[in-house]
Amino acid sequence: MASTGSTRFADDVRAGLTRAGQKSLPSKYFYDDVGSALFEVISLLPEYGLTRADQRILWRHATAIVGRISSPLLVAELGSGSGRKTRAILEAVAAREATTYFPIEISPSALARCERELSHLASVRIVGLEREYLDGLREVAAQRGGDSRLLVLFLGSSIGNFERRAAEHLLREVRTTLQPGDALLLGTDLVKPVAQLMAAYDDPLGVTAAFNLNLLARINRELDGEFELHRFEHVARYHPDPCRIEMHLRSCTRQVVRIAKADVVITLEEGETIWTESSHKYQPNDAILMGRRTGFRCAGQWLDEEWPFAESLLIAE
Ligand SMILES: C[S@@+](CC[C@H](N)C(=O)[O-])C[C@H]1O[C@@H](n2cnc3c(N)ncnc32)[C@H](O)[C@@H]1O
Repeated sequence: MASTGSTRFADDVRAGLTRAGQKSLPSKYFYDDVGSALFEVISLLPEYGLTRADQRILWRHATAIVGRISSPLLVAELGSGSGRKTRAILEAVAAREATTYFPIEISPSALARCERELSHLASVRIVGLEREYLDGLREVAAQRGGDSRLLVLFLGSSIGNFERRAAEHLLREVRTTLQPGDALLLGTDLVKPVAQLMAAYDDPLGVTAAFNLNLLARINRELDGEFELHRFEHVARYHPDPCRIEMHLRSCTRQVVRIAKADVVITLEEGETIWTESSHKYQPNDAILMGRRTGFRCAGQWLDEEWPFAESLLIAE
C-alpha cells in the first residue's frame, strides 16, 4: 500500500534519527507553510546573495536562454518556490508563443504563492503539481504533446542540496524523462570565500536559525514530537572537499525526546548534532561536466559577477 505524506514523513524522521552514527533529517521537510515563508525572508537577507544573483542572470539573459531552444515550448520547474524568478523566463517564452508552465512543488503554500504570482502573465497557462521532483516531471512528460519541446528549470542551486553522486543520479533521472532537444536550465551556486558563505547560512538576524529550527517545530506540530526548541542551536559548518556548507542542529544538553506519531524515542548527547542540510558549491565547469556525464550538452552558461553563480543551459542529447 502506498504510504501517505504524513506516514512517509514519520518513516523518514524515524530512519534519520535512529541510524547509527550521525543523525540526520531530509532537507525537503523544511518547507511547510512556516518554512516556505522563512525561505522567502532568507532570500531577501543582505548576506544571502544567491537568489538575487540568480534573478539578475534571468532578468538579463532570459531572451537569449529561451532563444536557444526551439518551439513550441513547454516549461516545467522543479521546486518552484514562490516562482518570483521564473517570471523572466515565462515572459521571454510568452513573447514568442503561448505556453504551459508546470511548477512542481512539495510545499502547498509555495505552490499556491507561485500560482498567484504568475497567474496574470498573458499567454501562460499554469498547471501546478503538488509532487516530488521526479514524480511531477514524469506526470508532465506523460501529458505533453508530441511536437513540443520541454524546458525544465532547476534554479537557485537546489541541486546543491544533494550529495555529488545523488545529484548526478537525479540529473540522469531527469534526462530519462526528457526527449532529445529538450532542455534543463541548471542553477549552481559557485565557490566563494568561506566568510561570505558562512554569513549566508548563519545570518545575524537569526532567520536561517529559525528556518533550521522550524524543522523540529514541524515534527512537534505534525508528528506530536516533544522537542524543546530552546535546547537546540543552529550551526553552519564549512566543509572544504567537496565544498559545501552544512546546517546542523546541536543539542545543548543530554536529552531524551519522544515523537509519538513516528513511534520513536531518541537520546541526544550534549553537543551531538542532527544534520539537516548540505549546500554544495561548484566551479562553473562542474555543471557542464555533470551535464555531459548524464546525457546533456551545454548550449550556454551565464555567470553573475557580483555573487558568483552560474546558470547553465543543458540540452538533452
Ligand atoms: C531552496 S527552495 C528554492 C526555490 C526556488 N526554486 C528558488 O530558486 O528560489 C527549494 C524549493 O523546492 C521545494 N522542494 C524541496 N524538495 C523538493 C522535492 N523533493 N520535490 C519537490 N519540491 C521540493 C521546496 O518546497 C522549496 O520551495
